[in-house]
Amino acid sequence: MPLTVVVGGWFGDEGKGKVVSYLGLVDKPAICVRTGSINAGHTVNFNRKTWKLRILPSCFVNETTRLMIAPGALLKIDVLFREIEETGSRGRVWVDANAGVIEDKHVESERSNEYLMKIIGSTGQGVGAAMVDRVLRVLKTAKEFPELRDLITDVSREVNEELDRSGGVIVEGTQGTFLSLYHGTYPFVTSRDTTAAGVISEVGVSPRLVTDIVLVFKAYVTRVGAGELPGELSMDEVIARGWAERGTVTGRPRRAAPFNLDLARRAVMLNRPTQIAITKFDALFPGARGKRRWSDLPVEARRWIESISEALRVPVTLIGTGEDSMDMIDLRREVVGP
Ligand code: IMP
Ligand code: MG
Repeated sequence: MPLTVVVGGWFGDEGKGKVVSYLGLVDKPAICVRTGSINAGHTVNFNRKTWKLRILPSCFVNETTRLMIAPGALLKIDVLFREIEETGSRGRVWVDANAGVIEDKHVESERSNEYLMKIIGSTGQGVGAAMVDRVLRVLKTAKEFPELRDLITDVSREVNEELDRSGGVIVEGTQGTFLSLYHGTYPFVTSRDTTAAGVISEVGVSPRLVTDIVLVFKAYVTRVGAGELPGELSMDEVIARGWAERGTVTGRPRRAAPFNLDLARRAVMLNRPTQIAITKFDALFPGARGKRRWSDLPVEARRWIESISEALRVPVTLIGTGEDSMDMIDLRREVVGP
């Protein structure tokens, strides 16, 4: 904090929801802003409950945090209200007047687009179609919908004023670096720039104000939809390693590959993080499961983390060891060393 940006280092589904919910609970930011759109599912497990969020910030678990939807984000009204109910966060959710609104026609247009659905493997949530309308300047924005009237605010102003008061703000990115429209594996990408620079541009805050960039890598790489995945394993191998997952939004099986240093180096170059978070660490080192202190990790697990820090020249500060938001080793708070 004060301004922490959380972004994904692979192809989405790195566990940003878990990392953001942990940071919410521990750092208690005044504001958490969600960027991106409803094609991105962020999963939060806390106190034996599970939420699959597609538009609300994952910081909702901290009840003092105000939850905001960025001007560059795109929401769908039914999804927004459903999540406000599911998370019990009515009264502290705010939507920027200029946030885009996805309508049924956008969903229909994507789902009937064979190129998007079959070749690219789109999630079919209408996000790309709404972005087209946004660029053509015909997309409706939040301020035009009477049902959103009580939630409307100026998010960039709120964020900048909070930072001027030295309050804490977390910006929650979506998807991953290599799904970026500009820096990813085009055309097998999503419809926005998912890197740290793109994410803060969606909020309306200067790069000069960013204090921390947390780049999230899952302990292995996954990808849903089409496009290259270096080192991709057969589905049998994925299952044998216990890495089988399904998409949060679409339920499709995720393709998987081992942690890839070359890809990670490029993600570091594109985002220049100050910190790295590693999630699902217990999938690589079962002995790490549920551990919350560095000293409780098996020696080989600690060595692996140190080797990643050294290879990427960025400290690994957060290590996810289980589903719960609090299953986290937080090296920002521990002195690590010989
Ligand atoms: P679209 O953005 O829904 O059109 O999907 C374009 C590509 O990005 C497809 O390969 C999707 O599977 C992928 N994609 C979009 N959002 C996510 C996400 O949140 N997690 C993982 N993959 C995603
Ligand atoms: Mg996801």
